Amino acid sequence: MSDLHIDCTINGEERTLEGSRSALLLDVLRAEGYTGSKRGCDTGACGFCTVQIDGEPTTSCVTPLAAVDGADIETIEGLGSQNSLHPIQQAFVDHSALQCGFCIPGMIMRSKALLETNPDPTEAEVREALADNLCRCTGYKKIVEAVLDAADRMEAKAVVTDGGVHGPNPDRQATRNAACENGERPCCQAGTRTSSHTEVQK
Ligand code: FES
Ligand code: FES
Repeated sequence: MSDLHIDCTINGEERTLEGSRSALLLDVLRAEGYTGSKRGCDTGACGFCTVQIDGEPTTSCVTPLAAVDGADIETIEGLGSQNSLHPIQQAFVDHSALQCGFCIPGMIMRSKALLETNPDPTEAEVREALADNLCRCTGYKKIVEAVLDAADRMEAKAVVTDGGVHGPNPDRQATRNAACENGERPCCQAGTRTSSHTEVQK
């Protein structure tokens, strides 16, 4: 029996979700077909089930359904399509930043939340943002490289579409440039990059 009827938005679509008073968001999302959100630990510890709720990366396995009344929920299904991937998804593919792929929806949703608040992160900031998302396969190096590359791709797109109003942050760019010159960023090491952020920074 459904005790709760929750109105919310999922990937821009108005929805009414139903469940018991003890229902958890991950269970309801998966039952509704949003199976990109994965179940790992079920205790809020692995990040596989990460979605964005009102812009915040959130582990849906420990989020009560009752807590999302009126919320704006975004799942991995709301990003790109098979033929038109979101820049973060495309960067993960181009960097081969996945093996079994089970952790990747959560990684991408967490990365998206990072890049929306910090469009030009350092490697340390990416690693810190992803610290709560576990991967049993990749060793994280390629994932971090993919997120840094995605930041560049999204910055470049912003410059093209808004004339640079929301383009690269000059202060952070300077910091990144200095790190590049010192060879401190994996993206600046030979043979590891598919696009050059130094081109974007010109
Ligand atoms: S399944 Fe939700 S954090 Fe692990
Ligand atoms: S790619 Fe397998 S768990 Fe991350």
